[in-house]
Amino acid sequence: MKKLLIALLLVTFTTPFVRSDEGMWIPLLIEKFNIEIMQEKGFKLTAEDIYSVNRACMKDGVMIFGGGCTAELISPEGLLITNHHCGYGSIQSHSSLEHDYLTDGFWAMSREEELPNPGLTVTFLKYMEDVTDRVMNGVNKRMSEDEKNEIIEANISAIVAEATEGNHFSAFVRPFYMGNQFFLFVNETYRDVRLVGAPPSAIGKFGGDTDNWMWPRHTGDFSLFRIYAGKDNMPADYSEDNIPYEPAYYFPISLNGVDEGDFTMVFGYPGGTSQYVPSYHISMLTDYIYPKMIELREKKLDIIKEDMDADPEVRIKYSSKAASISNSWKRWIGEKSGIEKLGTIDKKKEFEKEFTAWVKEKRKREKNYGHLLTSYKSLYEQMQEYSLVNSYTSETIGRSGVEAINMASAFIPLVEAVNNEVGDDELQIILEGLSSRISRFFHNYNMPTDRKLFVAMLELYGKNLDEKWQVPEYKELYKSCNGNFAVIADDIYTQSVFTNHEKAAQFVSNFDSRLISELEIDPLYILARGVRVFLDERVRDKYIEVSGKIANLDRLYMKAQMEFAGDEVLWPDANFTLRVAYGEVGGYESRDAVYYTHYTTLEGIMEKDNPEIYDYDVPDKLKELYYAKDYGRYGQNGKMPVCFIADNHTTGGNSGSPVINAEGHLIGVNFDRAWEGVMSDLMFNPEQSRNISLDIRYALFLIDKFAGAGYLLDEMTIVE
Ligand code: ARG
Ligand code: GLU
Repeated sequence: MKKLLIALLLVTFTTPFVRSDEGMWIPLLIEKFNIEIMQEKGFKLTAEDIYSVNRACMKDGVMIFGGGCTAELISPEGLLITNHHCGYGSIQSHSSLEHDYLTDGFWAMSREEELPNPGLTVTFLKYMEDVTDRVMNGVNKRMSEDEKNEIIEANISAIVAEATEGNHFSAFVRPFYMGNQFFLFVNETYRDVRLVGAPPSAIGKFGGDTDNWMWPRHTGDFSLFRIYAGKDNMPADYSEDNIPYEPAYYFPISLNGVDEGDFTMVFGYPGGTSQYVPSYHISMLTDYIYPKMIELREKKLDIIKEDMDADPEVRIKYSSKAASISNSWKRWIGEKSGIEKLGTIDKKKEFEKEFTAWVKEKRKREKNYGHLLTSYKSLYEQMQEYSLVNSYTSETIGRSGVEAINMASAFIPLVEAVNNEVGDDELQIILEGLSSRISRFFHNYNMPTDRKLFVAMLELYGKNLDEKWQVPEYKELYKSCNGNFAVIADDIYTQSVFTNHEKAAQFVSNFDSRLISELEIDPLYILARGVRVFLDERVRDKYIEVSGKIANLDRLYMKAQMEFAGDEVLWPDANFTLRVAYGEVGGYESRDAVYYTHYTTLEGIMEKDNPEIYDYDVPDKLKELYYAKDYGRYGQNGKMPVCFIADNHTTGGNSGSPVINAEGHLIGVNFDRAWEGVMSDLMFNPEQSRNISLDIRYALFLIDKFAGAGYLLDEMTIVE
């Protein structure tokens, strides 16, 4: 069947064939693979307008924002827009009970009022280059995988060194198509990024975790920052003397809105997808890992939310943590149910059957690819075990688990340094690092909440992880209290250094190596150290070995799939590099008899309004504007548009990405995907996979009418 299809396509298409709307494409290759389809769909510009090294283009207006989001420039004076949830950490860092910018919003009414954010950066792509030949130089078929990888790594280091020599850029080489192709990325990072504006959470996070990953949506998910540069427009550390960055490109903003069927394009940094994995990978996730992780996070969220609801200070401290715990938790649930509904595993198995038949057709194929699926099977049996141990340990008593245990693990290097009798200088560096870590940690720490988490996480760890994977120190603690952690939690938490800001700070500032023995008898320290040793000795090497073997199979399987696809061009899985997704605006059928239209309005916010529920408490000012229908030039037919959906293929990391219309103008800011289609990381479903964007007109309306910061619009280019 597949072969017949390919044969037919060969006859009808002279150019390579690309599946419509699916995929996250490489900017450098848009010209070659995508621009024709994009133009057929209505795009009026050229591939060079998107990506070029010879002249200013859209790529010069798009950035990585912080660690994992996208942002875009909207003025010639360095003003950028991203999501509220991407700026959240920065907004929170300036917030206290007195200045609660999370609750009240923040608007700089002049440049002087813009707030610096130490550590926050934005990164521009200067250029990218296919370096596959250089990376593979010296590799041959007779080598073992390890030998190959060694040469590849050495080649990559040389390429990176050359690209960054004599300039202030940074560079990396990243594998595409599971290591069948390699691209060099050369970047420029700006380090002085100031907060300009953010709506109150009641707008920027409207609907909260309840509406997260769902359509219909009404979240005003945006915030504004400004990039500052040195006098020469180059990256510089924060200084009062810095001046607003003058970009090569910024996006004009359209007030024309969207209609069903309109062309849209999303240009940003999708973090990761797994489209080409075998069915075993998907069953590992949905049948083995997700159910346990979902249960675990549910418990965490119950505990944290209860305390947040009871105390506004805890709400400020834990809102960001809760949002991130909840975010993947909810996505896993959506992914799992989408995969079941779409029959993804069966579809994969069907594909694997066709693939196997194709492999069997030729002796050479059989020799190269014949072992793939059987090898995968046995490796995934091991992989699921190690993955679960890793994730489950980490989420309970490891790095992302009980916070005090994590704090305790930060002291391990100190203890080791003392035991190894390192010099005073080295010790001093460790102590300074610890001291800043302590102040950051306790800034957002609430001991009673963590104590509850301690009890719950230790219980779940014992219940859900096979005994042979349990850390010995855990088992001892379990024995000492008969598994009744609630009984010992009080003592442990009142006596420990790691649960008390003052004690921890004093311990470090008055440090004396004799104090080490105090740490070594602290149950939290004993546990933290036990986890470290256990993972190092019992899990890590095996995990690396198995995942390395899988990665080697992946490289081969991807190569085979590309051959099998014939003339169809496959898009490479996302890997947090700049990508283009395109598609069209449109609603979808959610379930039997339920069709969702492609946009939402302020009417929907008013429908959800409920002062009793934190997530749906509409600010009075917004209600006034609604009753007065005071929408200015931002409204349409007497309504205020809020969000819209389209079938651009996006994923985590695309948050904050510019959503662009046929003319290349900014019409929205991407921030989410709709529930029914979130399994698009594993398999795209054109019927239901939708990205959710903030309508840019709602953002402008809020800046202008709601916040009274309309002066910011003066520096933008607005197309009516
Ligand atoms: N689901 C979106 C993303 O993956 C938004 C997350 C932030 N919002 C929230 N309510 N937790 O990042
Ligand atoms: N909210 C996501 C982010 O932070 C984008 C939604 C998605 O996963 O598509 O990147």
